[in-house]
Amino acid sequence: MDKKQIGYKLVMIIDKKDREYMVQLKPKARFSTTHGFIEHDLIAELFDGDTIMSSMSHTYRIYTPTYINYVMNIKRQAQIIYPKDAAAMLMWGDVVAGQKVLESGVGQGALSIAILRTLAGQGSLTSYEIRDDFAEQAGKIIETYFCEKVPNHTIEIRDIYEGIDGVYDRVLLDLPEPWHIIKHFKDSLANGGIVVAYLPTVPQVVKYVEELKESGMFFNIDTSELIRRPWNIEGQSVRPATWIYNHSAFLIVARKVTNSF
Ligand SMILES: C[S@@+](CC[C@H](N)C(=O)[O-])C[C@H]1O[C@@H](n2cnc3c(N)ncnc32)[C@H](O)[C@@H]1O
Repeated sequence: MDKKQIGYKLVMIIDKKDREYMVQLKPKARFSTTHGFIEHDLIAELFDGDTIMSSMSHTYRIYTPTYINYVMNIKRQAQIIYPKDAAAMLMWGDVVAGQKVLESGVGQGALSIAILRTLAGQGSLTSYEIRDDFAEQAGKIIETYFCEKVPNHTIEIRDIYEGIDGVYDRVLLDLPEPWHIIKHFKDSLANGGIVVAYLPTVPQVVKYVEELKESGMFFNIDTSELIRRPWNIEGQSVRPATWIYNHSAFLIVARKVTNSF
């Protein structure tokens, strides 16, 4: 693939010590460091992966951020779903372009971005969020990532426990008490549809799974936890990293059927 010119958008700026900064480029603005500054207008002229010198002759490399760079650099007010879990939710939830997807809550919009990338402009994503400040903030975060307002995405400020409008192919949940939503799936999740819930603690998982079973509406109920273990590869020192992010949450996947056996 040809190198892409950066233009006025988000960039990662990386110094020689691998310190990374995410910056939104604006005409006539400056990126300031302890080693001088760099004009945004000069960065905008570069190609992905190029280097540039600051006013004090320090070298920096410029990249377009990946999804992981972007979501891990969001200044967070709510816990996001980390990329390893977002990836698994999309795969186990069998989310593909063209589907009608519902998500709740929106939080910082990290999972919303992952879903919208998968939909790639086909189908739709509706996000229910109870807090208007989170809804507004997530809207901005999502718009900044895509450099536009995404036409097939709607954020609605509402309590999903009270009900769902419409019928969805897939539902992805990241909120504390998803068992309140199960009754709404009778009319709002398509038959054969899949719901994936992200829950941090065992008591939440037990209550949710028991209620899914009691509803008689679901089969293939699968509970799992994903642990990603990074390794250090440094000369003779080849071993798992000393520090790992150990537990994030459990994923519970369930598929809807019309009636029980
Ligand atoms: C952990 S955050 C979601 C983070 C999001 N998945 C992300 O990756 O950025 C949980 C969100 O659920 C919202 N929430 C909690 N209860 C809700 C409800 N009953 N209806 C809608 N949203 C709810 C909270 O306000 C919060 O924004």
